[in-house]
Amino acid sequence: MSKTWWRGAAIYQVYLRSFADGNGDGVGDLAGLRSRLPYLKDLGADAIWLNPWYPSPMADGGYDVADYRGIEPVFGTLAEAETLIAEAHELDLKIIIDVVPNHSSTASDWFQQALADPAARDRFWFRDEPGDWQSIFGGPAWTQVPDGQWYLHLFAPEQPDFNWDNPEVHREFEDVLRFWFDRGVDGVRIDSAALLHKSDTAWEDLDPVHDVYRHWRTIADSYEDRVLIGELWLPDQERFARYLRPDELHTAFNFDFLSCPWDPEELRRVIDLTLTTHATVGAPPTWVLSNHDVTRPVTRYGRADTSFAHGGALHGTPSDPELGYRRARAAALLAMALPGGLYVYQGEELGLPEVEDLPDELRQDPMYARSGGTNPGRDGCRVPLPWSGDEPPFGFGGPSPWLPQPESWRKLTAEAQLADLDSMLNLYRTGLRLRRECFGDGTLAWLPYGDRVLAFTRDSGVTCVANLGPDPVPLPDGAVLLASGRLEDRLLPPDTTAWLRTP
Ligand code: GLC
Repeated sequence: MSKTWWRGAAIYQVYLRSFADGNGDGVGDLAGLRSRLPYLKDLGADAIWLNPWYPSPMADGGYDVADYRGIEPVFGTLAEAETLIAEAHELDLKIIIDVVPNHSSTASDWFQQALADPAARDRFWFRDEPGDWQSIFGGPAWTQVPDGQWYLHLFAPEQPDFNWDNPEVHREFEDVLRFWFDRGVDGVRIDSAALLHKSDTAWEDLDPVHDVYRHWRTIADSYEDRVLIGELWLPDQERFARYLRPDELHTAFNFDFLSCPWDPEELRRVIDLTLTTHATVGAPPTWVLSNHDVTRPVTRYGRADTSFAHGGALHGTPSDPELGYRRARAAALLAMALPGGLYVYQGEELGLPEVEDLPDELRQDPMYARSGGTNPGRDGCRVPLPWSGDEPPFGFGGPSPWLPQPESWRKLTAEAQLADLDSMLNLYRTGLRLRRECFGDGTLAWLPYGDRVLAFTRDSGVTCVANLGPDPVPLPDGAVLLASGRLEDRLLPPDTTAWLRTP
């Protein structure tokens, strides 16, 4: 792969706990992932991003990191992680890991030292009086320790925020980056990347964070082809672009696209804004339809309101499964054709719906508990994958996965879908193969096609047409390479996308 592989890569997101279970304890692990690397290769992934794999009490699915240089024993060992990296590289798959610099775990050595000794508290945010900030997961952002002081946690109380005014915190993360780059990791996804610094009045997007990333860039650049990817939920495009300046992060997730309703004008606006914003700094855009924090597209696109608001999962809202499925297929081909990088969240390629009827007592996401149950949380998009067979656990491994899978997923297993040429899985497989030849990094030229249709041609000469209107529209001339739904008489039905090689 080229030095700038990340500019157009298709990156598959593995939520390890729910991907594949190699040792039968009901929780996905490195052994399970290793056994499924050929599946990801055949799918057409260029890289794999793994959610945190470190030792963790799992108060927030591993985003409460107790040791940044180890592997959670439930997932495997450090030696096994190194084997995974080597095996992935043999298949020409890059490995991206998650680094969580905003907060730690109350189980970390540093926090335990801070609890034991008030003189060791400067690595975190301890104060004599709590402020009035609310946690992003609901409830107060300050928790009191037995001696009376309070510490800040923008997320769960088990996730104390680091103090980035302390140089030791900087040194620690620089060392953590080197630790993993030395082991062959090809990139890091930076969790909550805009939150690091705080003032007494603000906790997001403070200017000193850019010095951190400038420094991290010099570290990444001292290795070959390593990439820094930001998780930035920033509505202000100018502020967002600052993180992608040539001496900072390489790319960031496009949450505007992910949150956008299935509406042609809105989508076109977001696509144009994305392209313009990224062009100002020369960074490639990315296209993201889902991840482990958001409602699955098949469910979201079947609702009357097809947008997604962070923290705003809406269980119980009626969703038309057929409509959602058709739109999710059309959205997949649209996202694959756009210029830049692509993210695919595990299960998206199987067209899995959000599981909305999990028993409340099994819900593990702190968002659910901290909202007093008003927010169902994110467990519904984290249910273990169905691989094969006719009944749960559908080849996931072990007799009982950590979250139960719906019986109806028998039709959605990877095995069943491989055998069905029209399945979502085969759409993704063909789409990602063609994407490598026809799309990825580059530019697009819009074609005039009315306001309910998104149509553009890419540098390769291949045209993408997505019909978001209520009526079929005629296709342009050219050979159809792939379509998300059945075409009749060269008409593109509603909620369908087609790719054509135009003459
Ligand atoms: C990010 C992660 C999310 C996690 C949060 C706190 O938004 O994607 O899963 O809960 O950060 O670490």
